[in-house]
Amino acid sequence: MFKVISNRIIAPGIRRIEILAPRIAKKAKAGQFVVIRVDEKGERIPLTLVDWDSERGSITLVFQEVGVTTRKLGRVREGGYVLDVTGPLGNPTEIKRYGVIVGVGGGVGNACLLPVMREFKRAGNYIVSMIGARTCELLILEDELREVSDELYIATDDGSRGYKGFVTDLLKKYLEEKVPDLVYAVGPTIMMKVVSSITRPYGVRTIVSLNPIMVDGTGMCGACRVIVNGKLRFACIDGPEFDGHKVDFDSLINRIRMYKREEELALSFLEKRGGEDHGV
Ligand code: NAD
Ligand code: FES
Repeated sequence: MFKVISNRIIAPGIRRIEILAPRIAKKAKAGQFVVIRVDEKGERIPLTLVDWDSERGSITLVFQEVGVTTRKLGRVREGGYVLDVTGPLGNPTEIKRYGVIVGVGGGVGNACLLPVMREFKRAGNYIVSMIGARTCELLILEDELREVSDELYIATDDGSRGYKGFVTDLLKKYLEEKVPDLVYAVGPTIMMKVVSSITRPYGVRTIVSLNPIMVDGTGMCGACRVIVNGKLRFACIDGPEFDGHKVDFDSLINRIRMYKREEELALSFLEKRGGEDHGV
């Protein structure tokens, strides 16, 4: 059992949770994730490590309350427990001095961008962060990202903050004037697909952090399979980061959509039973 130190709303439907997990906190590196199981009957979900503190022995995660498991996780109060936290999993980001790095984050993916940009900055890179959200209320961790960035640009779909439009439009405009040494993208799969297609003609190295369906997180179940460079890869052990120019995004998007109906059904059961039935 893992004790929850805090669990608070940082934007509508988005929470930041700090969990006591000293062994994970000691080993965690930027780009890695954990797999969480809230209770005995719950499914396992992967969540990217946003922060960790080896002295406090804690890890911080940011999640959107979209499905049954994330809603259950949202209900665990300070002092409560989650059953399982496995990690750190996945390969850490290769942190080195590239030069100018453009980090592109979308929605909840902005939280995942933070630790990676922080480490790239520490390694002496010039950091240009571009963060997008549907509205200004959904824009998370702006101050924290500003702190680790040399330049920060904001886009909202509705224009309530910064540029009106997709974050990928900002990247497109930037590339018309300057070509960075690396582009790193994390967010909705469609956004990472668009980022990769924008950078391809410029030949800019592009890393994407994929977030497919995962079950065990250890390469055993095959749930997280993704085609990269025509070969089958498992995001949990071969990734989660891949060369965006080599990822078959269309097959990945289809796989992610495959379980949407089951998830909606499970969610409606949970809502009907007021969230008390942990067997959902
Ligand atoms: P969202 O749908 O609100 O989109 C966030 C931003 O992404 C938008 O404001 C826009 O700037 C950009 N975007 C969205 N669609 C786009 C398109 N078609 N073209 C170009 N840009 C586009 O995002 P959300 O609801 O916060 O995102 C949730 C998604 O992010 C989930 O699918 C989740 O699985 C994924 N996610 C991925 C990771 C990861 O590690 N890759 C981490 C967290 C969340
Ligand atoms: Fe099972 Fe990756 S989550 S193989």
